[in-house]
Amino acid sequence: MKAHHRKIPFRPPAKRYDVKVSRAGLLLRFLRCYVKPHRWSILFCILLSAPQVCSVYLMSYYGRIVVDRILVITPSAPARPPQVGAENYRVWTDESKRVGGASLPGESQGRRIDMGVAASARPPGAGIMLLTVFILYATTLIGLNFLGRAVQQRRIRVGRQIAGHLREDMHEKILSLSMSFHRAHSPGRLLSRILSDVEVLQQQLVDTIMMVSNTVIMICTGTVILLTIDWKIFLFVVATAPVYAVMYRYASEVIREISLELRHTNTCLWGFVSQKFDALKAVQAYGRERLERLNFHRLTSCFLRDALLQQRASAGLGRSAGIVGSAATTTIFLFGATRVMAGRMTLGEMLFSYSTAASLFGPVLELAQLNLIFANLGVTMQRVADILDTPLEITDAPDAVEFPSPVKRGFSLQHVAFSYDPENEEVESVLTDVNLHIPAGTWLCVMGPSGSGKTTLLYLLSRLYEPTHGSILVDGIPMKKIKTDSLRMRMGFVPQEAKIFSGTVRDNICYAYPDARPKQIMAAAKAAELHDFIMDMPVQYETIIGEKGTTLSGGQRQRLSLARALLTSPEVLILDDCTSALDADTEGKIQTTLATILEGKTAVIVSQRVSMARRCHKICVVDNGVITEYGTHDELIARGGFYSVLHAQQTELPPVIS
Ligand SMILES: Nc1ncnc2c1ncn2[C@@H]1O[C@H](COP(=O)(O)OP(=O)(O)O)[C@@H](O)[C@H]1O
Ligand SMILES: [Mg+2]
Repeated sequence: MKAHHRKIPFRPPAKRYDVKVSRAGLLLRFLRCYVKPHRWSILFCILLSAPQVCSVYLMSYYGRIVVDRILVITPSAPARPPQVGAENYRVWTDESKRVGGASLPGESQGRRIDMGVAASARPPGAGIMLLTVFILYATTLIGLNFLGRAVQQRRIRVGRQIAGHLREDMHEKILSLSMSFHRAHSPGRLLSRILSDVEVLQQQLVDTIMMVSNTVIMICTGTVILLTIDWKIFLFVVATAPVYAVMYRYASEVIREISLELRHTNTCLWGFVSQKFDALKAVQAYGRERLERLNFHRLTSCFLRDALLQQRASAGLGRSAGIVGSAATTTIFLFGATRVMAGRMTLGEMLFSYSTAASLFGPVLELAQLNLIFANLGVTMQRVADILDTPLEITDAPDAVEFPSPVKRGFSLQHVAFSYDPENEEVESVLTDVNLHIPAGTWLCVMGPSGSGKTTLLYLLSRLYEPTHGSILVDGIPMKKIKTDSLRMRMGFVPQEAKIFSGTVRDNICYAYPDARPKQIMAAAKAAELHDFIMDMPVQYETIIGEKGTTLSGGQRQRLSLARALLTSPEVLILDDCTSALDADTEGKIQTTLATILEGKTAVIVSQRVSMARRCHKICVVDNGVITEYGTHDELIARGGFYSVLHAQQTELPPVIS
């Protein structure tokens, strides 16, 4: 299969799943978890759709009645004496009146006319019978229509419920997966799994269940009908099944492969669009719209080509299957015709068995396609299960304890090392052998050049990531042994980049503490120097902030994020350079308020400002993943290292440009 069209930017190679991982096992699991709760609804659909799928036989049966009992001509007034043996010609007879079982066929109307038989002669009550059949036919169609609607409605509802259930599980899982997972999976790609893959999976699951049950019902009914009429015709149908099975066996591999690539391209498209929309400002600022359009076009073209490939493969298969089907139906027709001529079958029976056999090819073909259907279903199931089965990296140990409150001894980092990609040896460790003690009730200022590992250190302290080596202890208890919920409640983390949600200012401040009273919310906003700004807004705390806080400035976003953390009155506060976008005056005011709020609490603060460092009990300098300086302000000034240089830079007045 040609695949050069897939080697394009923003489309890494698709992940290969181990095909040996039992598809049947996965299917059983999905059936148990997601389909079983709706079993009664599905059974209802299957039972109600049974008459519908079998209606094709019923319609053929009506045809048989019309041909055998209405359209036949009775030799009421022979114009000339019947020929020898003519009395044996059965033109209309009751089953009960059959002589010697088999009867000879009715002659065509034209022939009867030739023979001089009155063409108008019909079986007694033919008109009434025709009307009855017509009414039955119409009633069946109307009834089937109503049944079809009921099945369709229930089927759609079950499908939606299954998709909803699956999406909730995936959403919950994605929320609980650690940062390491999210580092490797972009939000757009995860969205495609939750929305697109789940949609396809629920459709395929419900369709497959309905298809298999309908097929079985149709085959069973068709088999019984054919066996009662003539078992030899049934053999013709059976003979095609292995031919189909062989054809589909070879095609299913190709179609499975294309299906995998298609789903992957779909994921890449989602990832690409969400990434570029997120960075729309940069795209426009650098005038890269044309390039982005081209990239998007390449991805959509790749999707289109794979979709066409898949359709071509399926259509090719369909055509071959059609040829086999047509050959078999023609043979059955010929065979039936010879049986009629030999007087072993009535014309109506022949037409009935012919159309029953023709209708049976559909289900037999579908049964042969099962492998292909499972191949497609398998691809989607594996992609969904891939997320659901990702092991949780950060979990509570069975003997996990509550976070010590109040913290008595403080935090200890022992030989802590960390790499964002520990399995890849080429990726250097971000932190190497960090040993640090943060006594309870003290503030530690973390400084260092950009990219030295400060934020990473805070991530480890907040247990957003686990250290690759070494351990972090809180009051002597390893972090792994502390319940994550209680840790998150006691520790406040203000990230470097403020995360704002769309909603009101109030919703944003009390995100971590939704039951906060207005007074508490205002106190937090005042501490973050945000209250005055909020009061100037049209509806103050109820003002709606645009998506991601686009209506706020960088500094305002940072202050909002700080107010959110302060509202929870955390035991330990971790601030990641969260005042970097503020003017010196506001920053000074916040520092003073923080000094009062954090009195007696433990704080780890990343800052580039010496003014902040001076308020902290201890300062540590991280450089290239190791702690190079540690001590008080005076000690570090005396050392003459990074800190003293920074201090000099920030306190020294720049020369006046004349
Ligand atoms: N999500 C990530 N995946 C891989 N590498 C990362 C990631 N985040 C940061 N890094 C790398 O880790 C190093 C330290 O980053 P960081 O802790 O953010 O630095 P700082 O906060 O000191 O500026 C940098 O070299 C950066 O390239
Ligand atoms: Mg940082």
